[in-house]
Amino acid sequence: CGIMGYVGDKETQRVLTEGLRKLEYRGYDSVGIALNDGETLQHEKSKGRLEVLEEKLEGAPLAGSIGIGHTRWATHGRPSDENSHPHLDEQSKFAVVHNGIIENYMEIKREMKEAGYSFTSETDSEVISHLFSHLYDGEMVSTIQKVVDRLEGAYALGIVSEHDPERLYAVREASPLIIGSGDGESLISSDIPALLEHTRDVYILEDGEMAILSKEGVTLMETETGKELTRDIFRVDWDMEQAEKNGYDHFMLKEIFEQPTALRKTMTGRLDQEAKRVDFEELQWSPETIQQWNKITIVACGTAYHAGLIGKHVIEELTRIPVDVEVASEFRYRRPIIDEKTLVIVVSQSGETADTLAAMRQSQRLGANVLAITNVVGSSIAREADEVILTMAGPEIAVASTKAYTTQVLSFYLLGLYLAESKQTVTEQKYKQLIESIIELPEKIEGMLEHSQGIRWYSDSIKDAKSVFFLGRGLDHAVALEGSLKLKEISYIHSEAYAAGELKHGTLALIEEGTPVIALITQDEVSEKMLGNVKEVKARGAQVLGVAEEGNLDIWEYVDETCYIPNTPSILTPLLTVIPLQLIAYYTSLALGNDVDKPRNLAKSVTVE
Ligand code: G6P
Repeated sequence: CGIMGYVGDKETQRVLTEGLRKLEYRGYDSVGIALNDGETLQHEKSKGRLEVLEEKLEGAPLAGSIGIGHTRWATHGRPSDENSHPHLDEQSKFAVVHNGIIENYMEIKREMKEAGYSFTSETDSEVISHLFSHLYDGEMVSTIQKVVDRLEGAYALGIVSEHDPERLYAVREASPLIIGSGDGESLISSDIPALLEHTRDVYILEDGEMAILSKEGVTLMETETGKELTRDIFRVDWDMEQAEKNGYDHFMLKEIFEQPTALRKTMTGRLDQEAKRVDFEELQWSPETIQQWNKITIVACGTAYHAGLIGKHVIEELTRIPVDVEVASEFRYRRPIIDEKTLVIVVSQSGETADTLAAMRQSQRLGANVLAITNVVGSSIAREADEVILTMAGPEIAVASTKAYTTQVLSFYLLGLYLAESKQTVTEQKYKQLIESIIELPEKIEGMLEHSQGIRWYSDSIKDAKSVFFLGRGLDHAVALEGSLKLKEISYIHSEAYAAGELKHGTLALIEEGTPVIALITQDEVSEKMLGNVKEVKARGAQVLGVAEEGNLDIWEYVDETCYIPNTPSILTPLLTVIPLQLIAYYTSLALGNDVDKPRNLAKSVTVE
């Protein structure tokens, strides 16, 4: 979910709705705002996109110089007008927006009902507004302390009250919240881009902290004790331009095209092109620390997990350290075997994914050293990890991740080489050869993107398919998983990725006349085997697109269509193979008339379990 709040002399309603527009990637199934006009709280909310709310507001705009807004991604309670935020108490004295999950809300709800409060929504968040009404003692800070004392779980809160028309309150516990400090105005938001139009001076609120905002400025304090905190302003130096569409029809397409630049930026300062060496100045490990790891565990969700699968292959290949990869939502509820001798790598574009964050904390408790590969400076994961590699993809807006994935994969190549050099598990010749090939990758991707339209026809041929299958072996299988996820996320076509040799153990039954199969055939060591699998599906009537390296003419005998990628060592092909798969997903979604950047049911940043 996304939170926005404002106090100042600008048109508050517009500041809130514009801010929410920038936060829609965090959820967009319902939206609402509440303003204090100096006397009473007014609010409007509705199920659906921001435009629906804006239409409602057109006839009856809300006035006031202080307000809060929210864009929701449903967890507790379906998307509906009632379940939308802000939530108000019965007398409309308090309005609250909430991001996160209140774990003990059932218990509080029961108690409040017994005390005579009636609820209008199915959400966990509504208990908060009633708690305010119930516990109000004539003073906001002490009331907030009492309310928060009752809450268990994760929350970022924005609060306005009729009792205090000059001030906006914000509280954070395990859900991101940023405070903006402008000239005669102050703001809150779940993320920095929504603030940039107004100010570049921000404070990142930490867990257990609250903020009081007014036109005059911002006061930060420890929530529990009320002790005032002094903190340096964080000045945001990146450009809003980076977060805009720049002439592309969709953020996703823009982000696909930004990959060569994002990869070059991620190499900068880490890969010395002259000396052909990898160095991570940001990593504080000594050779002894590296030497003591007997195991690496990679934990992530979604696309970042798929980058982790490539990471496993690369690190094992180059360093011979055993590597496990696990999705964070599974890892955190097991009793993982982790200790001081384990390096845990968490991968997260946003740095805020709740499951990944929890898995990271659990690993730290168990004594592991945690390295985060993330795209967002100042995110919870970036701040709490022991070591951080920042991917330099820039803001990623489309829900379907593209440039974050490729920069994560690149980070694994660089990290693998860095560890291998330290452990002396790679020959100087192989090390240099890989570095030379890595340096050439951005240009090769540029070449592929120049012909991006070349793959468009294929999307037309699969757009009406019932199911699409992606096959590969080794690293090609890991890329197949990502290609399949991209396609289902935005085209809503069912698709599966299979380790090609496993197909015959069940899934082959689904192949029928005309079933589209995308076969990745870039791994030299298993390409013969792969061609055998292609034969198996062809024999059942599949229509096969083969993705292989330029010059591989043999595949013509086996497949119906081909898509070539430039030559590169087998271990590096994932960064090239994924490009046509991203484009296939994009064009298929476009052909079907779907909302490419904001697919149904999904959110960019999942800060709830
Ligand atoms: C959401 C997004 C995915 C993303 C995943 C993990 O589900 O829609 O695109 O891969 O979260 O996000 P993270 O920010 O941790 O990489």
